Amino acid sequence: MSALPSGFIRTQDVLHEQLSGQRVRELELQYGNEELLYGLGVLGLSGPFSRVTPWELEDEHGVRRINASGYAAMPFGEMPPAITAFMHEFLTHNRAMGLPQQSSSPWRAALEANLVRLLARELPSHADSQVFFCSSGTEAIEGALKFAKAYRPRAKYAISFGSAYHGKTLGSLSLTPNPEYQDIFRPLVPGAVTSPYGDLDALKRVIRRLGPDTIYAVVVEPIQGEGGVNIPPAGFLSGLGEICRRHGIPVIADEIQTGLGRTGHWFESAAQGLDPDLITLAKPLGAGMTAVGATIVRAPIYKTMLGGLSSKRHSNTFGGGALAMAVGLKSLEYLIDNDLPTRSRELGEIGLSRLQALHRRFPQLLEAVRGQGLLLALQFRPMVGLPLPAMLREIVFEATAILALRELHLGGVMANLSLSSKRTVRLTPALDMPADVFATLMDRVEAFAQTHPNSRDLLLRTPPQVTTRLAAFAATKPKKRTPSDG
Ligand SMILES: Cc1ncc(COP(=O)(O)O)c(C=O)c1O
Repeated sequence: MSALPSGFIRTQDVLHEQLSGQRVRELELQYGNEELLYGLGVLGLSGPFSRVTPWELEDEHGVRRINASGYAAMPFGEMPPAITAFMHEFLTHNRAMGLPQQSSSPWRAALEANLVRLLARELPSHADSQVFFCSSGTEAIEGALKFAKAYRPRAKYAISFGSAYHGKTLGSLSLTPNPEYQDIFRPLVPGAVTSPYGDLDALKRVIRRLGPDTIYAVVVEPIQGEGGVNIPPAGFLSGLGEICRRHGIPVIADEIQTGLGRTGHWFESAAQGLDPDLITLAKPLGAGMTAVGATIVRAPIYKTMLGGLSSKRHSNTFGGGALAMAVGLKSLEYLIDNDLPTRSRELGEIGLSRLQALHRRFPQLLEAVRGQGLLLALQFRPMVGLPLPAMLREIVFEATAILALRELHLGGVMANLSLSSKRTVRLTPALDMPADVFATLMDRVEAFAQTHPNSRDLLLRTPPQVTTRLAAFAATKPKKRTPSDG
């Protein structure tokens, strides 16, 4: 046996929880994304958390929280028994190759066929569509952009929408119009144009101004998730589809967050009358256990990029790997067997009406609530009501949402910040969360609102040492941190 590097951590030590919470935080601060962990540490949210049930997590002190976080990538909660039992079976019995890059694979074949058949049931024009697998949402978007560009090679523009979120690799980042994420990386991929979300006339004007033949893709989220759960006006998506079809512009529906049941439908774009040419999927396919991304593409577009001798033009090492495909297959099967889109719609209706009641009771805390299925948003009234310069206003929005996130945590609810909407906190519980757990989750959100009927209370109830540290964190340049800082 060769010598281990000093301090090497054994798998068995991690598996048997030999690393204390304090040690985990120290290692993360020293070797990982230190600033993010530090910020979460100041808020008391950095964990590590352990699973109690698929829906409940506890910290090292045994304090429990219902998990409505996970950025919509935990469709069945933490380590769902149906998936882990199948993974045991897979690991015991599977004989198919692990990474079948240059050969066919039964797991990949089955998932390709199932995804296309599921889509074609909703949108029959996709009966002969084809799938390309990858390992994240942003990579699925990169693939979609390349497919569309290869199909219209002379076109130079891709249109996305205000407040969109498509990921953070360079292509998808170029279509995520958020200066906070984009600015330092300029120049980005050229030709990205932004049109206001939900405004069909504005889109028509942009297409007319650029010239339809110069556009290789319109990329749209059927409901914007990271943008704060923005539901477009009726007719926007179907109208968008009609304009693009008239001009032959490929439409990419980014269903990474909305797809496969989260919003109460298998494909939210189809439910809103859009028949896109490319569809990206990711989050729920991996069942919270592994990474699976997919780009589903109409055959003529697929074949242009990956036809004949060009079939290696787009590739990756891990996409289509046996474990990822097997988990993806099981995830899809579980969603179908339990009709989770319907369940998401039903639970979501209860959740949204409870949030609407809170909005009516506590307008000084909640500026708005939104939701569809189990994609629910609370938009907070800024803590400071005075007119402020734009930059300060952004800081106040963000601070309000961050303090709300902290208070929700303390009240036993893990929630998500929204990456492209500073004032919004989202709830994305598991689609199969039992009704009584979901009711407790909503009771806790209500208790949180009762304790903070006015958003100013968020500030007043936060211990001064937390606000001081947060302010110092926001105002100082990154430096080496220690756990005691957090
Ligand atoms: C709509 C949408 N597209 C793309 C992405 C990027 O996915 P990933 O984080 O897996 O790269 C996300 C992630 O939140 C998303 O919500």
